[in-house]
Amino acid sequence: MAEKDHPDHIDRADLTFCRNEFPALNQTVNGHPVVFLDGPGGTQVPSSVAQAVSEYLLSHNANTHGAFRTSHESDAIIERARAAMAALFGCTPSEVAFGQNMSTLNFALSRALGRTIKPGDEVVVTDLDHEANRSPWEALAEKGAVVKSVKVNTADCTLDMEDFAAKITPRTRLVAVGWASNAVGTINDVAAVAKMAHAVGAAVMVDAVHYAPHEAMDVKAVDCDFLICSAYKFFGPHIGVLYGKREAFDRLGTYKVRPQEDHSPFKIETGTLNHEGIAGAGAAVDFIAWLGRRSGGGEGAGSLASEPAESPATSPTTAVATVPTTSAAVPSRRDVLAGMEAIEGYEKPLARRLQEGFSAIPGVRVYGLPPAGHRTPTVSITVSGKSPEEVAAYLASKGVFVWNGDFYASTLVERLGLAASGGLVRFGLAPYNTAGEIEYTLEQVAAASRA
Ligand SMILES: Cc1ncc(COP(=O)(O)O)c(C=O)c1O
Repeated sequence: MAEKDHPDHIDRADLTFCRNEFPALNQTVNGHPVVFLDGPGGTQVPSSVAQAVSEYLLSHNANTHGAFRTSHESDAIIERARAAMAALFGCTPSEVAFGQNMSTLNFALSRALGRTIKPGDEVVVTDLDHEANRSPWEALAEKGAVVKSVKVNTADCTLDMEDFAAKITPRTRLVAVGWASNAVGTINDVAAVAKMAHAVGAAVMVDAVHYAPHEAMDVKAVDCDFLICSAYKFFGPHIGVLYGKREAFDRLGTYKVRPQEDHSPFKIETGTLNHEGIAGAGAAVDFIAWLGRRSGGGEGAGSLASEPAESPATSPTTAVATVPTTSAAVPSRRDVLAGMEAIEGYEKPLARRLQEGFSAIPGVRVYGLPPAGHRTPTVSITVSGKSPEEVAAYLASKGVFVWNGDFYASTLVERLGLAASGGLVRFGLAPYNTAGEIEYTLEQVAAASRA
């Protein structure tokens, strides 16, 4: 969302109250409270999500479509989670499919699309993307497809949109683009990409893994054909979730076992799914909706904000303490949007302070767009004279958990000339991070640069 569009309530969003929901935040290392800035690799999980997973396993565990109670409950829990994810995407539940993770779902997509690829057909990927949105499409070269990769402007880590336009031709069958870069935070204009692709009849696959935890999604406004994200990046368990536009999904010839239903969303859901993970994914969306209500947006705006500590595990509308079944209300799109807007409004100023603070430390180089640019709260740096691994290890000893390396954004890191030197050190914010943690992290990075 552009800064000018912010509703008032997100400018005042203070989400520090949500820290109580994350037991993992109470850990220490060498006497230092742990600062979790590893969110782009996977966030921490609120108690309500862990409860949903364990309640599923302890009380409702069964395979689907049986004649007995726990099987009925499993069906209901999965369909409820589908509806919750639809509220996050802005689509209908029948357009939501679950899978092992983003990479595996994307390979399933590319294998399905590959059945119709003819030699000389073209697919377009980008240099900015995670390899999970490149390798599955590059594999179509085995079918004779010509794979083109859009250039990245290395000065600010944005996509070269002129190059994008030039690479999409009447032979293009598929365009794969990330909504946001997991390495440097750039947010791409995926709606503009979808428009260019559709103008030549190509399908569009959006990797929303890094975008989904930070800003609201509206798949219909973007008009992508497919979009995949991973619940473990937004407070959920380790599963992947796919949106497939009804018409595009119905056309897709997926590989499936014969008895499996041949329509969306089931046609891509091979075998028995991770039911407990799906229950947890639904609870993760409940958690986002709860953040929206607690921060003064969504349904009941202005009332819940002033109420004392309603918890997602006890909320009457989310009823997460007992795993949601058909009787529990699906989180509303309005609450989910309010939650995402609150997250964005809370994370952005913290990220700005972090980025500006880094820029003031001698020897630290920050990559990507400036703080006011359209970017996620993920900031990557290098420190002169220190390898990214050394910096990450130093910070870990002080309780600051960050990732180093290329994070599978391997092509970008090669284009930045950082592959041989170990890539980047990445700091990713989540709603449970605090201003105090940011100041502490800046002090520790300054110390690491002098060490
Ligand atoms: C932007 C992006 N795309 C794709 C992936 C792969 O996701 P998964 O682990 O669900 O396969 C990741 C994982 O870090 C990512 O950050």
